[in-house]
Amino acid sequence: MNVLVTWRIPDTGIRLLEEQFNVTVYQGNAPLNGSSLVQQLEGMDGVLAIFHNRFTREVIEQLTTVKVIANMAVGYDNIDVAAATEKGICVTNTPGVLTEATADLAWALLLAVTRRVVEGDQVMRQDRFKGWDPLYMLGTELYGKTIGIVGMGRIGTAVARRSKGWDMTILFTSRTPKPEVETALGARRVDFTTLLQEADIISVHTPLTEETYHLFDRKAFQTMRKTAYLINTARGPVVDEEALVEALKSGKIAGAGLDVFEREPLAHPGLKVLPNVVMTPHIGSATHETRNRMAEMAARNLIDCLQGKRPAALVNPEVWNKTN
Ligand code: NAP
Ligand code: GLV
Repeated sequence: MNVLVTWRIPDTGIRLLEEQFNVTVYQGNAPLNGSSLVQQLEGMDGVLAIFHNRFTREVIEQLTTVKVIANMAVGYDNIDVAAATEKGICVTNTPGVLTEATADLAWALLLAVTRRVVEGDQVMRQDRFKGWDPLYMLGTELYGKTIGIVGMGRIGTAVARRSKGWDMTILFTSRTPKPEVETALGARRVDFTTLLQEADIISVHTPLTEETYHLFDRKAFQTMRKTAYLINTARGPVVDEEALVEALKSGKIAGAGLDVFEREPLAHPGLKVLPNVVMTPHIGSATHETRNRMAEMAARNLIDCLQGKRPAALVNPEVWNKTN
């Protein structure tokens, strides 16, 4: 069988695939999308894809041989899952293996923005430090504050667990109740407005869906505390970037830590000039260990699908149930 890997990925994943299939690793310099993606997938039985390949309905409907799209990410908003399901194509993802790395990055952004770490680094590099000053570069203390987790799933829970180390009060929203999290972490499930009103820090961990698109809009920023910070390591479009820039500029909120952006790889130009923003280039899962695990998991999902074994992380089990 033939398999396409749409971008360079850690060798661990490639080696697993090569043991079973004829593997082509796309060597282009721009993400495969639209008609180029369809063309590269001609005659392929499976594809190991990454976040920047958009499997739209239009693309999926033109696939004639592909039986599985194995996404090397936990998020799968780049894939029209309904279209894949209609076409009988399995979609898989990589949940769990990147949880701790992403939670670490959320906390890195949180500490960096509240304690002005990046601003301080620039002062030192530019020889602007004039000596210790009691009123210089004051930040916000996290100890004992209230964190609001929007989306208490795997990563949200891992962020909340870290917050216990700072003795924080933990509020959260989620679609379904999480009694086990409430018991284990002493966290309280509240409605979205209460979370906006009460949290000193808000960390976003929902998937991007129709429901969460622009969840953080002008109204949300208006409702947040003027002293509050927003951390987003989920997906850019969950936040209306235009409204965020306006809120940061006008002091409606105190700052933001962002790993994801509405129009990646670009960030809103307004964000780049604000000192109360810390940005990273979508590196939530970017550790050697985690990226190896993601490549391996995506490859195993793909192998299992093509060899008739139910994969560990299947997004659309309906397809599997129908064909197996
Ligand atoms: P997960 O375990 O599925 O958690 C997502 C949580 O969001 C679930 O608890 C879900 O609630 C909740 N949710 C869904 N819609 C919601 C809504 N409208 N309001 C409130 N909560 C809602 O997923 P995960 O593994 O933690 O990953 C979360 C997301 O992080 C991924 O989808 C991906 O986009 C992003 N991510 C980014 C990076 C990065 O590099 N920056 C890395 C990894 C993941 P229920 O439990 O009730 O269904
Ligand atoms: C990365 O953004 C992921 O969803 O795994």
